[in-house]
Amino acid sequence: MTSVFALPSSSTLFFLATVLTTNSRSSKYLYRVNVLDSVHYGHLTKTISTLIKERSSEEEAGERSSGFADADDLIQAVSERAFDLAGDAASEVRVVLGVPKMILLASGFSVDTTIAKGPPHFMSSKNVSVNDIVLPVIIGVNPPEREEKQRVIINITFHENTELSQVKSPDYKQIVSGLCKEIEPTSYLTLEKFVMEIVRFCCLSSDKVAGVTARAQKPSALSFAQSSGVQITRTREIFL
Ligand SMILES: *[C@@H]1O[C@H](CO)[C@@H](O)[C@H](O)[C@H]1NC(C)=O
Ligand SMILES: *[C@@H]1O[C@H](CO)[C@@H](O)[C@H](O)[C@H]1NC(C)=O
Repeated sequence: MTSVFALPSSSTLFFLATVLTTNSRSSKYLYRVNVLDSVHYGHLTKTISTLIKERSSEEEAGERSSGFADADDLIQAVSERAFDLAGDAASEVRVVLGVPKMILLASGFSVDTTIAKGPPHFMSSKNVSVNDIVLPVIIGVNPPEREEKQRVIINITFHENTELSQVKSPDYKQIVSGLCKEIEPTSYLTLEKFVMEIVRFCCLSSDKVAGVTARAQKPSALSFAQSSGVQITRTREIFL
């Protein structure tokens, strides 16, 4: 294994594993009503933390085929444990992996997946969110805004095309650092144009990206409101 997914100290890693059953309406409903009898969440939590600990200590001991190759590898391992524990009660598992500080310029990074029961188990949905990217840019129409950079806060969600199972997930660290280089020197008049440029860049960053939602906020834009923000969602196709 050439690259190993580096897990920060356990305090910065969190999981949310929700088991969904066949006749479900929504995951929340299920979590509270149906599944509690069939899946022991205490056991699930324990199984998952043991899995992570075991794999991480193998890694420290220098064994070659240990650790996790990447976030997807970790998520697959977690979902297998969840299916094992849930037995026939689960037809799908949702795993949310959050790794704060994974990306230098953003304080939040999370992967939200739904995995369908196999064999083989496959990801039927995957969204990757990069939150709280803070960048100073020239933006706005007012004269002072044309002269001085102001802080803009950006959240981006990448919707992956899970049907392209043979195409690997892109390197989001690299995409975000490329994006920041691209947009820092810009000087758009409106937040709408700025956000659209982010969506376009991110949609075109990889074949694996099916669509992108981006949201940006100018904390200091209006004197009587705390912030103004714009959110745009587009599919990749429209930029091709
Ligand atoms: C990912 O986002 C899409 C579009 O917003 C949504 O329909 C889907 O349920 C999300 N999937 C997960 C696993 O969060
Ligand atoms: C970005 O996401 C974080 C965490 O989910 C949230 O607190 C923040 O308000 C969001 N910011 C924007 C600009 O949407």
